[in-house]
Amino acid sequence: MTTTHNEVPRSKRRGPAPAGDELTAPERMSVDELRSVQLERLQWTLRHAYENVPAYRRKFDEAGVHPHDCRELADLAKFPFTTKADLREGYPFGMFAVPQERLRRIHASSGTTGRPTVVGYTEGDLDTWASVMARSIYAAGGRPGQKVHVAYGYGLFTGGLGAHYGAEKLGCTVIPASGGMTARQVQLITDFRPEIIMVTPTYLLTMLDEFERQGIDPRTSSLRVGIFGAEPWTEGMRAEIEDRLDIDAVDIYGLSEVMGPGVAQECVETKDGLHVWEDHFYPEVIDPIDEDVLPEGETGELVFTSLTKQAMPIIRYRTRDLTALRPGTARPAFRRMDKVTGRSDDMIILRGVNVFPTQIEEIVLATGGLAPHFQLRLTRANRMDQLTVLVEARADTPADRRAGAAVEIAARVKDGVGVTVGVEVLDPDTLERSLGKLRRVIDERPMEP
Ligand code: DLL
Repeated sequence: MTTTHNEVPRSKRRGPAPAGDELTAPERMSVDELRSVQLERLQWTLRHAYENVPAYRRKFDEAGVHPHDCRELADLAKFPFTTKADLREGYPFGMFAVPQERLRRIHASSGTTGRPTVVGYTEGDLDTWASVMARSIYAAGGRPGQKVHVAYGYGLFTGGLGAHYGAEKLGCTVIPASGGMTARQVQLITDFRPEIIMVTPTYLLTMLDEFERQGIDPRTSSLRVGIFGAEPWTEGMRAEIEDRLDIDAVDIYGLSEVMGPGVAQECVETKDGLHVWEDHFYPEVIDPIDEDVLPEGETGELVFTSLTKQAMPIIRYRTRDLTALRPGTARPAFRRMDKVTGRSDDMIILRGVNVFPTQIEEIVLATGGLAPHFQLRLTRANRMDQLTVLVEARADTPADRRAGAAVEIAARVKDGVGVTVGVEVLDPDTLERSLGKLRRVIDERPMEP
């Protein structure tokens, strides 16, 4: 489709479907080939961790397992899990398996409490990361020669630099905007005309409002593909973004402990969950309580083992993210994971009922007259926890519709989730805006004595 500078194409969505011969060799593997590569890499990883990281040696010895006990992939279940607490205990460099001179980069995730989690990369690891990110951007519909606006934060957070080197590796031109200065973001997009944007979904919403504030219809922008991740988002949010920006919106998943963004990616041609790049990251889903490995299709906690990482191999890392694994589609050998609906530690237990912010997001986005900006406030009165949904009205919503929307949300939450919540519909532009990962839940309950 060719368009002149000011002409608005009829629809900018859906880039070319990938030709099989354009995929990387690993993406074309059969399941059998993949399983044998995985076993060989897993055995190497277990040996590497055991021989070079005292914390793993201790944990394996305590559990009475040795790397030579891994003869098939299912044997991984005999090995102990790794948690965030294990990584914190080793702060800062205790989990590294190579001498510091071999590290080329360090990232850290801030976390809300305590010490940050530190991760390190050798030159080989950075190359692997760039390759899986390049693969991800391609799967999202990006092609060499296109411009990529990266508005994930640059710095210790893995989002910005991870996206950056992957886009370069694919042969794209990177615009390293980082997060913040939203008016300038809009100007850069308008003037530089990128085809692809990589950003958290909630910061994209902040940008869309800024487009509108400047009197620019976001649908007229040059963007065709958005690659959104680093926080949970729903199908309702996908519909809102695709409609307001006239792009294909796809999901990218990752975490710093395992690598950064690019652990799993949704393909633009199917938009049916995220293909895990299993030649580098081996997924399991476990029951979070009894810790058994669950069969495909059952939802539980996602656990990852790295297969090729040199600087910081990670064995059975408990992500706290909730999802299910399913067979591959657009990349047949690679299993998909469902969109992550939430983390076990984001879950609000309200009077015994589990509530995820994404459940509220679906309801807010399906209720007319409301903006897609909302927050959840937790308070306690008379020893009872109260949850209040704070949501903004759209600018043109009349007062009676606001009241109606509040009643509708409360009724839908009661019906669909099973709890009674308060709802306050606020004026436009009153809630805190996202500049990256948004804090959805404001917990104002007093600390337990
Ligand atoms: O958020 C890496 C990343 C950057 C992923 C940019 C995608 C895009 P961390 O800061 O270590 O790393 O946070 C990892 O974020 O365990 C999930 O809880 C959440 N998360 C990441 N991607 C998604 C997603 C980056 N697509 C934590 N959907 C993870 C839902 C996500 N949650």
